Parts: sequence; structure tokens; C-alpha cells
Amino acid sequence: MAVTTQKLAIWKEQRRSIVSLTAWDYSIARVLDRAGVDVILVGDSLAMVALGHSTTLPVTLDEMIHHAKAVRRGVKRALIVCDLPFLSYQESISQAIHSAGRVLKETGIAAVKLEGGHPRIIETVKELTAIGIPVMGHVGLTPQSFNSLGYRQQGNTPESADRILDEAIALSQAGAFALVLEHIPSELAATITATISIPTIGIGAGSKCNGQVLVTTDLLGLSEKTPPFAKPYIDLQSIITDTVKHFAKDVLEDRFPSEH
Ligand code: KIV
Repeated sequence: MAVTTQKLAIWKEQRRSIVSLTAWDYSIARVLDRAGVDVILVGDSLAMVALGHSTTLPVTLDEMIHHAKAVRRGVKRALIVCDLPFLSYQESISQAIHSAGRVLKETGIAAVKLEGGHPRIIETVKELTAIGIPVMGHVGLTPQSFNSLGYRQQGNTPESADRILDEAIALSQAGAFALVLEHIPSELAATITATISIPTIGIGAGSKCNGQVLVTTDLLGLSEKTPPFAKPYIDLQSIITDTVKHFAKDVLEDRFPSEH
């Protein structure tokens, strides 16, 4: 059965953890979906892991839609969520509606994610959900604010912890169906998870969230730089390198293709 936003809410009540990973193309999405991942995020981290940019800022809405369409074709069960990229929703509510609407209409994906908890973002979430566009929020370390926040842990002073808790409550009240908590202290993530009614999905936010998400290249050992909170489960870069070297040797030494 396909995963829905309603199902995530039920899983929070049942204390069934939500498994989430990022995807950027058909092949990876297909594997993740068949392996049982619940939420596949077409994260704007694809700017870095698929397009080679040094931050998420340069990726465009057209590029996100292009990748999201490919992911959509590979998925049968998981809930897919597509990030709205930097400056595709911050200018005005009508810009956000236009961008989110394009994602839904052009990709067939049913939900978007946007970053931050500023009152303007809260209003945007209210408007999007009011017209039937499901929204996932994202607070704590928000990579689209890299130029002002860097990649530091957030919420580690009483003031910033209070601000992030307030943002989480406001996003939940505005109608977001779930909330990514990125790189914040685990106690703060636990407090947010216990306070708000919607599921929290953590990345570098400890074990008390309702689910966990990782960037898939970090999980697979394919990232150039892995954040301190991510755990590579395999060193795919070494495995691919060895395999390619094996192939190259066979070609150079006339063992591939074999003639019989
Ligand atoms: O873009 C992304 O991959 C994300 C995850 C880190 C949650 O937003």
C-alpha cells in the first residue's frame, strides 16, 4: 500500500519509526522504494551530490522538476516529497503557490518541502496547505541559509532552542504534515517531537525523532564530504573504483568481451 501523509501521522501515534532517504534519479529511487523506504525526498542536496555544486543554492526549480520526474517513475510505494529550491518560494506567497503547483502538476509528486520557520514561511505553509498542497517543514540547520548560518549545529543556546521550538509549533499549527529537524541537539529534538502533533524526521538530531533521514550518498559512502552526524553503511566509492579498475584491466588485457 502506498505511503500517505495520513499514514505518517498514524505511525507517529503507533511509535512506528519512519525511514527516509534522498533520491535524485530513477535507478536510485527504484532501489530505495523496493527496499522499503517510506519517504523518498528529492532533496535540493542533489545540487551537490548529483550536480556537483558546492552548496544547494544554485539548483533551479526546472532542475528539481527534471530530477523529481525521474524519481517519480521509479517509485510505487514510498511517499515522495520534493524540495522547493532556494528563491522559488521566499519572494511571495504567489511565487510559492506557482512553484509548488508546478511540482505537483509536472511531476505527479504529491508533497513539497520548504525550509525555515520565519513568520513569512509560516504564512506560506498556511496558504499552500489551504489550497491542498501538502507541505513538509524543515528547521534547525537549513542549508539554503548557508550564507548566514553555515553548517553549524543550531539550537545550542537557550534562545535559539526556544526559537526553533516556536518555529516547529508554528509550522505544525500552519498545517505542515511533517517536519525535518536537522543538526540540533537531541534533547531539543526530543522536546519538539513530544510537543508537536506531526511527525518529526531527524538528520543529526538524535534518536528521539519519529523518523530518520539521510542523504543517500552519505549512507552509501559516495559523498565527497560526509557530515559528522551521518553514518556511511558501506564504502561504495571503493567498491565502484575496484570494479571499474577490474573492468579496465580486462579490456586492456583483452579478457572482455570473451569470445565464447
Ligand atoms: O536536501 C536534502 O537532502 C534535505 C535532507 C538533508 C533532509 O533536505
